[in-house]
Amino acid sequence: RQTQLQTRFDERIDADQKIEPQDWMPEAYRKTLVRQISQHAHSEIIGMQPEGNWISRAPSLKRKAILLAKVQDEGGHGLYLYSAAETLGTSREQMLDSLHTGRAKYSSIFNYPTLTWADVGVIGWLVDGAAIMNQIPLCRCSYGPYARAMIRVCKEESFHQRQGYESLLAQMKGTPAQRDMVQDAVNRWWWPVLAMFGPPDADSPNSAQGMRWGIKRVSNDELRQKFVDATVPQARVLGVMLPDPDLKWNEERQQHDYGAIDWDEFWATVNGNGPCNKERLGTRVKAHMEGQWVRDAALAHAAKQKARQLK
Ligand code: 3HC
Repeated sequence: RQTQLQTRFDERIDADQKIEPQDWMPEAYRKTLVRQISQHAHSEIIGMQPEGNWISRAPSLKRKAILLAKVQDEGGHGLYLYSAAETLGTSREQMLDSLHTGRAKYSSIFNYPTLTWADVGVIGWLVDGAAIMNQIPLCRCSYGPYARAMIRVCKEESFHQRQGYESLLAQMKGTPAQRDMVQDAVNRWWWPVLAMFGPPDADSPNSAQGMRWGIKRVSNDELRQKFVDATVPQARVLGVMLPDPDLKWNEERQQHDYGAIDWDEFWATVNGNGPCNKERLGTRVKAHMEGQWVRDAALAHAAKQKARQLK
């Protein structure tokens, strides 16, 4: 019976059919999806903090309104993805407990500080640009709820990327001090963004199986390369230098060569020892604790509504 179910599952994966919550699936498939989707959701929620720190200090009402919308979108992406993960049988409490106790991961990129207003534009341009690269293939993920969530998320991500780039264009037309501020932000974010795509394929324990199951469609290194090739011309239009002396066009490969990524820094950040890990997780846990009354009130209201319906 089990082998029949396994064969049926493999046939559906090979035929590029979507696996839905009620379908039989190998426990390891379920487990790796809970791992990836919940950590994706954690990333979106934690990712609200770096930019959120600038909502009260945006330089104009227009920029404040755009930033508010973007941070709200990220929160929405997180809740959407937690719901997608719940279709696999895990609970919101379990996922949040894993995050709050430091057992679950979230994207390394959000453990860096946003020191100036230019960081907000650079995050939109580079971090959301990288996120789009990573999330477009996920629209074709074999697990239905995740793929459908990604289609919705990608639509909003393109706004995130465009608004960041447009904000930087405005600053680059500004004073020398504003131009220097943008260049400083690019210098600080470029390498952590390249690392965000994940370890090199040779050091990526989940990739092979993820590819086999149609969860990962494009490898970490391939996406990283695509991102570099797409971003170099954008940097040229912007008038900023990318901080990599080894970055240059390789005519033979028809791609850009680029320098070595500091994987020690990446793993230190992934394992909780990046510049802002303690602050990001501390802020998250505090917000969750302080929000307990909202959850209690919503549950009390729902219980009253249910009691009324039963009368
Ligand atoms: N930050 C933290 N951990 C990372 C990481 C990163 N940037 N990249 C990889 N890792 C972790 C993996 O989670 C895995 O650890 P685990 O087994 O405990 O989960 C380990 O490093 C080995 O990496 P693998 O390449 O083997 O793992 P995956 O095959 O899962 O690939 C991934 C990693 C590419 C991040 C993949 O999980 C993925 O595509 N996740 C969904 C997309 C996502 O999370 N995007 C980034 C954040 S969301 C975002 O950017 C929001 C935007 O609006 C700004």
